Amino acid sequence: MSLRVFAPGRVNLIGDHIDYLGGDVLPMALPLGTEVTLTPADAFEFVSAQYPERWTGDDWPQPSGQWFDYVVGCIQLWPDSTPVRPCRIAVTGDLPRGSGLSSSASLEVAVLTALNAWLNAGLSPTEVALLGQRVEREWIGLNCGIMDQYASAWGAAGHALHVDCSGPRHVQVPLTLGDSGFWVVNSKAPRGLPGSLYNERVAETAEIASRLGIAGALARADVNAADALPPRLRQRFRHVVSEQRRVGQFVEAAAARDVLSMGALMNESHASLRDDYEVSGEDLDALQAALVACPGVLGARMTGGGFGGCVVALIRNDAAASVRDQVRSDYQTSRGRTPDFIGGTPSAGARVL
Ligand code: GLA
Repeated sequence: MSLRVFAPGRVNLIGDHIDYLGGDVLPMALPLGTEVTLTPADAFEFVSAQYPERWTGDDWPQPSGQWFDYVVGCIQLWPDSTPVRPCRIAVTGDLPRGSGLSSSASLEVAVLTALNAWLNAGLSPTEVALLGQRVEREWIGLNCGIMDQYASAWGAAGHALHVDCSGPRHVQVPLTLGDSGFWVVNSKAPRGLPGSLYNERVAETAEIASRLGIAGALARADVNAADALPPRLRQRFRHVVSEQRRVGQFVEAAAARDVLSMGALMNESHASLRDDYEVSGEDLDALQAALVACPGVLGARMTGGGFGGCVVALIRNDAAASVRDQVRSDYQTSRGRTPDFIGGTPSAGARVL
């Protein structure tokens, strides 16, 4: 008997680079994601519809940049209380890999959700997400926060998730905005060395916390403390505390369906990630600028880890088609690539099919 599971990717509407500091974030699950089919077998076998590389056997390899590193990590970190028996795991999906829409988190959550159902392990979606985060940190080596796995595990149709990452816990935020909607725009920019730069930012914030003697959630710390920091760390800290404030304001604006304020906060967030946290890049900046130059675009910002990947934009419905044509042409001229527009429909989280 086979078991099929789907786990979505996510886009983060606001609140980037503060999940690993116990801050608030506002992701929503996308309709795109990863599907896993798990079948009991005589030996382990991991295959993908997108990649020719496959893994067979249980002489587990160290991570080497292969898609199945994530599957191996899930098996390695799976709790001993419900041992994993040999199985075939077949993976397919429609998330563009390396575009900042959490293709790896959705793979982890899909595999872990399948193991959870198959082995009757009784893990909650939060426990699945935390285990997925451990796979990234302990197996892959990316010191990420909880946002991506959490959004994939808990996504809700029609809603964003207001996640307090110091829990983690969340409340659903309805996204019925009437005449406007979110679009995810893929810059298709190569991402360089995002893992090492990401870990560098995590390390910088650890240094801020240690210099300021802050033991708890840095995103909730007192902004006045920043005066004691050297300039670069002061910049980083300014992003962290201002982004935390913007998330709260954005949630209030969403409740009031105040799309103008939501858009303005997205633009501010982009500027902060670009100038203070320095995780954007020329392609993302050009794409964001091309978007906000169009009539009908209320705001736009890079989303996720950065250094390439996607921009999320809030666009009036009646302008969406003309914005897409204009931005495709502007960005093609300035950066030589044609961005993809993906509809940002807030979707459900991981599920057995
Ligand atoms: C990546 C990480 C997340 C989060 C974002 C930035 O997607 O996996 O934990 O830190 O970057 O907000």
